[in-house]
Amino acid sequence: MSDCKFPAGFLWGAATSAYQIEGSSLADGAGESIWHRFAHTPGKVFEDQNGDVACDHYRRFLNDIALMRELGIRAYRFSINWSRVLPNGTGKVNAAGLDFYKRLVETLAANGIQSMATLYHWDLPQALDDRGGWASPDSSQWFAEYADLMYRELDDRIDLWTTLNEPWVVVHEGYVTGVHAPGRRDWKAAVAVSKNLLKAHAAAVAAYRARGKHAIGLVVNLVPIHPASDSESDRQAAARWDAYFNRQFLDPVLLGEQPRDMPGLYGDAWTDWTAEELKQVSRPVDFVGINYYLRLVACDDSDEGPPRARAVRQPNSAYTATDWEVYPSGLGETLQWVADRYGNLPLYITENGAAFDDVLSPNNSVNDTRRVQYLRSHLLAAREAVKTGVDLRGYFVWSLLDNFEWQSGYSKRFGIVYVDFETQQRVPKESARFYSEVIRTNGGVLKG
Ligand code: FCB
Repeated sequence: MSDCKFPAGFLWGAATSAYQIEGSSLADGAGESIWHRFAHTPGKVFEDQNGDVACDHYRRFLNDIALMRELGIRAYRFSINWSRVLPNGTGKVNAAGLDFYKRLVETLAANGIQSMATLYHWDLPQALDDRGGWASPDSSQWFAEYADLMYRELDDRIDLWTTLNEPWVVVHEGYVTGVHAPGRRDWKAAVAVSKNLLKAHAAAVAAYRARGKHAIGLVVNLVPIHPASDSESDRQAAARWDAYFNRQFLDPVLLGEQPRDMPGLYGDAWTDWTAEELKQVSRPVDFVGINYYLRLVACDDSDEGPPRARAVRQPNSAYTATDWEVYPSGLGETLQWVADRYGNLPLYITENGAAFDDVLSPNNSVNDTRRVQYLRSHLLAAREAVKTGVDLRGYFVWSLLDNFEWQSGYSKRFGIVYVDFETQQRVPKESARFYSEVIRTNGGVLKG
């Protein structure tokens, strides 16, 4: 491999998720999702915004695919809104909802763009939450039924499937801090959800083995966690946080064991796993998807809930609009850590990107130089990791479009394409032009 180029066939993509871009949340027979319910509950989202319209992608997907093609994007990671295809979560199929995803993947294929579909990007059908949601022991069965339907209908056109997006966020933000749907604050429920998500993931992988012809994996968000000082207490705080954040899901799936720290972390709420349960969730996956954004520097703080640690701001670092530290070498560190700890399995960077306060200039351009710099430095780190032997197969920028950023509403722009939410006009930012060149040269442009 010469200079900055990536291996031949490296997959260059862009990522989105259903609730963040589609809009038309209840159109054509779709059921309500927990995010629809949550965003419509006053006080939960910045300025009480919601995903009713978002990027109106449900009605504009043809244009959005044309835009991806123009930019030279080779693969598109999107998620399926479960409530669109199964309005009650199980049982009766909504043909119109299914048809939307069929047209989406057919148009992508017709434009030479590969599909990576996420089965769960946080929008559980409200009907299932009403039956206990992820805390219910039935949830893995519900998920497997839905997954199997999707494989049956869409696998012909989908090259890469992922089961869950970021189970850590589902547990922590949905059931510990409550800043995400369904907005609970309940450690006991969190423990149950953590286990049930892994069972659901494994059940969906098992269903895929029976029917699927391509590849399936799990997507986790990983964060290098460094101790704020050399003290034993800070080092232990960083280790606890690392177990909670980085190993809670990967250790069971890839090693068939729980991090030793888990009972201590969850305290009274913890329930042990049986050997049978561990065996059940550690079914082989074809790849792991890694979402990488930032690093955390941890100090011990027993006033905090588990993992009894607090993040320390770094005075000499740059931070993004979401207050995330820009730390490109952490991407290389993370990829290497996964390869060392879990074996050199195929990896994709399924999300990487940054929010900045972008401004649309009067001449209709967005000079997001900091995002270009962010992407360049992270891509160089990824390429270094490839050079040292990490089996990295592709990279998906987060995100194709500015979109509904969960509790921050439309206030945080992550897109390489600017979206004017009044007019729905799309304006490719400087970062989109840059990324387009990265793809065209297979990384060659990163040099210099
Ligand atoms: C990730 C989510 C994605 C988006 C980015 C900024 O945690 O998967 O939906 O919110 O962060």
